[in-house]
Amino acid sequence: MDVQPINLAEFEAFARERLPASEYDFIAGGTADEATLLRNRTAFGRLFLRPRVLTGAGAPDLRTTVLGSEIAFPILAGPAGFHARAHPDGELATTRAAGALGTAMVLSSASSHPLEQVAAVATGPLWFQQYLFRDRGLTADLAARAEAAGCRALCLTLDSAVRAKRERNIRHRYTNPHSPTYEGVAVPDYDWDTSDAPRGVSALIDRAAGWSDVEDLAGRTALPIVVKGLMTAEDAALAVVVSNHGGRQLDGTLASVEALPEIVAAVDGRAEVYLDGGIRRGTDVLKALALGARAVLVARPLFWGLAVDGEAGVAAVLRILRDELATDLGLCGLASAAHVPRGTVTPRPRLGTLASQLPYAVNGNPAQVGQSDP
Ligand SMILES: Cc1cc2nc3c(=O)[nH]c(=O)nc-3n(C[C@H](O)[C@H](O)[C@H](O)COP(=O)(O)O)c2cc1C
Repeated sequence: MDVQPINLAEFEAFARERLPASEYDFIAGGTADEATLLRNRTAFGRLFLRPRVLTGAGAPDLRTTVLGSEIAFPILAGPAGFHARAHPDGELATTRAAGALGTAMVLSSASSHPLEQVAAVATGPLWFQQYLFRDRGLTADLAARAEAAGCRALCLTLDSAVRAKRERNIRHRYTNPHSPTYEGVAVPDYDWDTSDAPRGVSALIDRAAGWSDVEDLAGRTALPIVVKGLMTAEDAALAVVVSNHGGRQLDGTLASVEALPEIVAAVDGRAEVYLDGGIRRGTDVLKALALGARAVLVARPLFWGLAVDGEAGVAAVLRILRDELATDLGLCGLASAAHVPRGTVTPRPRLGTLASQLPYAVNGNPAQVGQSDP
């Protein structure tokens, strides 16, 4: 690597220098006013850690399991289309890096390399991400290809049936490259010139699909299904990724980490819950784990790693997050990433509440401390 970024923000800055402006904006951008994109980050700043001391924890164990597969630390490479926009090796590089570090890779169906080629280089768990297509045959065929290639789960993205208004892409007149996954698939009446979605995909997705279609797919594949893109308790059902698509679909939602507690409560231990959106620091991972996520996914940082140094860049990005998490677990007196107590995190407390817990409150006059702190 000709540069030495020491955190994910520096990776992004170096990647930005190397990428064409239209590609940088495609990756970094969100939808409409980008309010949700921003909130995904700022929401972490409104959560605070509560470190414990003298817990006897020793060096923290970062391992956990996702759908029964052990991973070395609870951070997955999330699904994102066309990694070759940042480096010619694309998903081959990302998948090798994730495997070398002992974590899982979720391969987008809009991959720049065919699923089978990517599966051939995977040494860690590989999940395949797809959609519910209007063409049920295509839905089942992709699931069958994933299963035959050795993927361990299907990640079904449910928040992308409507093409979002991504204004940075409109300004650049951006068009997405074609994914070999959709080779040979006919897309009638599709506006190829103005699409910022992986070519053809938004026209293929069934906007009228319901939960029965998820059940139908589950009946046609032996793979477990992870549904991605849930933001409300009403929708929580199976193994889920709490996600607002990194602020790239509906603008004006809560941050995904703000939606996490309601979904964890609704799922009530019946399914594994993962989170993505704005994870850039070990402390972000720790806060998500404390709020009930089993693991997190990252997407944009993979592109920053690819753009800076291909496979080695992605490995460095994942290593930085992993090492920050190890430090943060240690500083919080925690022994295991798989068991992070809820009390490890708190939203900004109202000072009135805090006052009753402070030592001087025992000696009187807690009322002098501010009562409301919105
Ligand atoms: C360039 C790019 C392409 C993406 N492509 C896909 C995709 O093909 N399928 C999918 O389910 N999510 C896709 N996503 C969404 C990510 O999986 C994820 O939900 C979100 O970006 C996570 O937030 P983060 O980028 O802040 O880590 C994409 C995200 C980006 C940035």
